[in-house]
Amino acid sequence: MRTFTVSDYLLLHLDKAPGQPRNQRIYQLLRQLILDRVLPADTRLPSSRDLALQLGLSRNTVLYGYEQLLAEGYLETRGSGGTYVTDTVPMLDGAPPASARRKPVAANAHSALSRRGRKLVAHAGASQQQWGAFVPGVPDVTQFPHKTWNALQSRIWRNPPVASLTYGHGGGHQPLREALANYLKVSRSVDCTPEQIVITGGIHQSIDLCMRLLSDPGDAAWVEDPCYWGARNMLAAAGVEIRPVGLDQEGLCPKPGQLARPPRFIFVTPSHQYPLGTVMSLSRRRMLLEYAQRHGCWIIEDDYDSEFRYGGRPLASLQGMDRGERVLYMGTFSKTMFPGLRLGYLVLPEALAPAFVTGMEEVYRSGHAPLQATMAAFIERGHFNAHIRRMRLLYGSRLEILQRAIAAEFPPEQVHAAGADAGLHLTLYLPPDCDDQAVARTAQQMGIAVRPLSGYYHQQSRSQSGLVLGYACVESAHIAPAFAQLAQAIRAHL
Ligand SMILES: Cc1ncc(COP(=O)(O)O)c(C=O)c1O
Repeated sequence: MRTFTVSDYLLLHLDKAPGQPRNQRIYQLLRQLILDRVLPADTRLPSSRDLALQLGLSRNTVLYGYEQLLAEGYLETRGSGGTYVTDTVPMLDGAPPASARRKPVAANAHSALSRRGRKLVAHAGASQQQWGAFVPGVPDVTQFPHKTWNALQSRIWRNPPVASLTYGHGGGHQPLREALANYLKVSRSVDCTPEQIVITGGIHQSIDLCMRLLSDPGDAAWVEDPCYWGARNMLAAAGVEIRPVGLDQEGLCPKPGQLARPPRFIFVTPSHQYPLGTVMSLSRRRMLLEYAQRHGCWIIEDDYDSEFRYGGRPLASLQGMDRGERVLYMGTFSKTMFPGLRLGYLVLPEALAPAFVTGMEEVYRSGHAPLQATMAAFIERGHFNAHIRRMRLLYGSRLEILQRAIAAEFPPEQVHAAGADAGLHLTLYLPPDCDDQAVARTAQQMGIAVRPLSGYYHQQSRSQSGLVLGYACVESAHIAPAFAQLAQAIRAHL
């Protein structure tokens, strides 16, 4: 009688989690077989090519599962080829084999993680590729005026005050908080004093701080559907119940049933919805502010890239319209300066600011004063505004090149771009029956990074097929040839 094989098992179970991508399903099923010791140490797995054939899937789908398991230490490749189950998977009973003691691997760590930790790792969204065509959300860091920065920084380091070298205190370097309060008033109509600003390590850290100070497990948050994966993952990892809310042309559009159950948090990107690029209308802003005030919700306004506006009418921040102290405004220098700087700011309602300053000190021990002092000088001396102006022109011209390249490759009724009035990316809509995840994988093999739009949706029934294309970090001359390649990848799946 023929024995039951790995492919038989996968065929039986692959479709039991509808909606979950096949590549992740393969990874999960194999991992469980290994943890349950159905596949014991030293078992040789079929080659990815054979398994793909047996399952009737693309080889890449199987490879994803294998590579994930290799990276986490469940599998290893040996000498002449072949993929084997490692002998370092955690034992449920008895002592682990000696080799496991010598070689601690991620597989051991995984079972040691908390439920919260496992959730965070399982939904990780950060890409390894952070540069080149068409990575979204990355500015052209080669254009950063590093000589000017270096001169300002050297001056600060010539004679650094003791206070800037010991533990920080009080929500960040005061001159930077002051420079930011002025800048935000003029450029974003944010209405605040320097004391309402806490300098953070970027929006991710700002969200983390908000969750630590304002949320308890089980609190609910409305998030835009689709939304930024990073925000959704951080809220979920904090134990917050995610309630996805659909969007229309005016932005976040809660249904009557949703309005009847007020959440504690409303997380929005009103100036340039991520990833679709819509701008929230004035009436929707008013509606949200009134609703938040009536029900005591906190609105988290993620204003991540609105400095770069090429068209349409700029609207004031939600924070600037808020008369009820319900908005927590988050900004970042990741797009205006460079992401590696890890510097951002959180503008708080007056009453919350002291607790957030304390929270920041308790959790992270504030610091980086010399860096913050350099940033303050960069703003005060006009370099920041000048850099933004120069980059806006450059990105605007790159956007035009990309839009022309798209129009040259596809008729608009088949493939079209939208959401390009601001920011560093646009959304390319594909025909509904085109598998955007497959397009992204094919493009990846050609060395082109794109994020499939469907991956940003919480509810797959809402999901649209498309690609999120970043153009800011692609050299102007490279945009058209790179898009021509991407067009080939798209055509392969039309
Ligand atoms: C919508 C949105 N919010 C926040 C961030 C991250 O900001 P930071 O680098 O300050 O953590 C990104 C990064 O791409 C983003 O797209």
